[in-house]
Amino acid sequence: AITGVAARRIIDSRGNPTVEVDVVLADGSLGRAAVPSGASTGAREAVELRDGDPARWHGKGVDRAVSHVGGEIAAAVRGRDALDQAGLDAALVALDGTPAKSRLGANAVLGVSLAAAKAAAASLRQPLYRYLGGESAHLLPLPMMNIVNGGAHADNPLDFQEFMIAPVGAETFAEAVRMGSEVFHTLRRDLLAAGHSTGVGDEGGFAPSLRTAEEALDFVTAAIERTGYRPGADIGLVMDPASSEFFRDGVYDYAGEGVRRTSAEHVEYLAKLLDAYPVVSVEDPMAEDDWEGWRELTARVGDRCQLTGDDVFCTDEALVREGIRTGVGNSVLVKVNQIGTLTEALSTVATAHEAGWTVVVSHRSGETEDTTIADLAVATGCGQIKTGSLSRSDRTAKYNQLIRIEEELGDAARYAGGSVLRRA
Ligand code: PGA
Ligand code: ZN
Repeated sequence: AITGVAARRIIDSRGNPTVEVDVVLADGSLGRAAVPSGASTGAREAVELRDGDPARWHGKGVDRAVSHVGGEIAAAVRGRDALDQAGLDAALVALDGTPAKSRLGANAVLGVSLAAAKAAAASLRQPLYRYLGGESAHLLPLPMMNIVNGGAHADNPLDFQEFMIAPVGAETFAEAVRMGSEVFHTLRRDLLAAGHSTGVGDEGGFAPSLRTAEEALDFVTAAIERTGYRPGADIGLVMDPASSEFFRDGVYDYAGEGVRRTSAEHVEYLAKLLDAYPVVSVEDPMAEDDWEGWRELTARVGDRCQLTGDDVFCTDEALVREGIRTGVGNSVLVKVNQIGTLTEALSTVATAHEAGWTVVVSHRSGETEDTTIADLAVATGCGQIKTGSLSRSDRTAKYNQLIRIEEELGDAARYAGGSVLRRA
């Protein structure tokens, strides 16, 4: 049973405050979880409660969320069985009582939900991925490594937010990390040689002053080749344009490139990029408010490319059901803090899998050293994770945890590779 629940304010990878929760059980087991934070958030995400006092933390304080954990939430969950995650999460949702967890704050609720799961796993002396995924959890995810940052994650003119590499041809997860690291370092040399800055953005990818997606894709493709790998066969390209960020008044406004595209022109442009480059997956190709455009693109290229919904679904099961029903994408990005409890996130995963859709477990651009999502990717067997570049410890912590999990699973471990990209 849960005997103690405490929260503290720590800082995330951008130096902003966030919530960390400790849950302690009667047998002394401790579960600790830190809550991540997005920058290009979806409009329908669960509410991250911020104090809004401009005199402290530039308004980003989380003192109210922290006090909700130690006060109201602790009082409500003390004595509950931590092994009953569904019951605990239902109680948290009911206690908050609002549709988007705006009263207690999704950052307060999620911290307790995740810390309780980790305490339960510790109590059973099981690794988290096994506690949540059972004995059969053995699939190591294909990593989508974000090596060029733009959009809201960098101060360069790139309109698209993320350019990633996915080692589809690796034999093991550890090898996938080696391949990614090698390409990352080749890219660094190439950018330097071309006179670009090699400073990194929020997710540890380079943030050179490029203007178009083609320029970024050319650099990445060349780096893959120059490292000795085949673009496509060994390493696939993945993009997250984060299109909601530059969709204004019904138009896709490429400010960096200096071009405006209608929804139909934006679809056309994306289809051309898919023809020209070995792109295996695109996240948020269309804006969260452009479901019609989403449907058009899915009908056009959904049979040859994974189209993953992030802002458009916000890890919300009901929105995912609507997407499945209406042909919006074929894959779901899962960010636990978009929905606020572990049980709801797992239920979204199950709904996607039942429909033959794929799932990508994801970090946020504001992260901590917490590695829960690495275990979650293995537990769900979804076979895909997006957790940033090959630099910044907030990103590499997740890769390192997956290396440990692969080692621990030994002969039972399987690396998903490119086979997971399509389930149908
Ligand atoms: P965020 O962005 O964590 O800054 O919201 C990540 C993404 O769009 O996938
Ligand atoms: Zn995204």
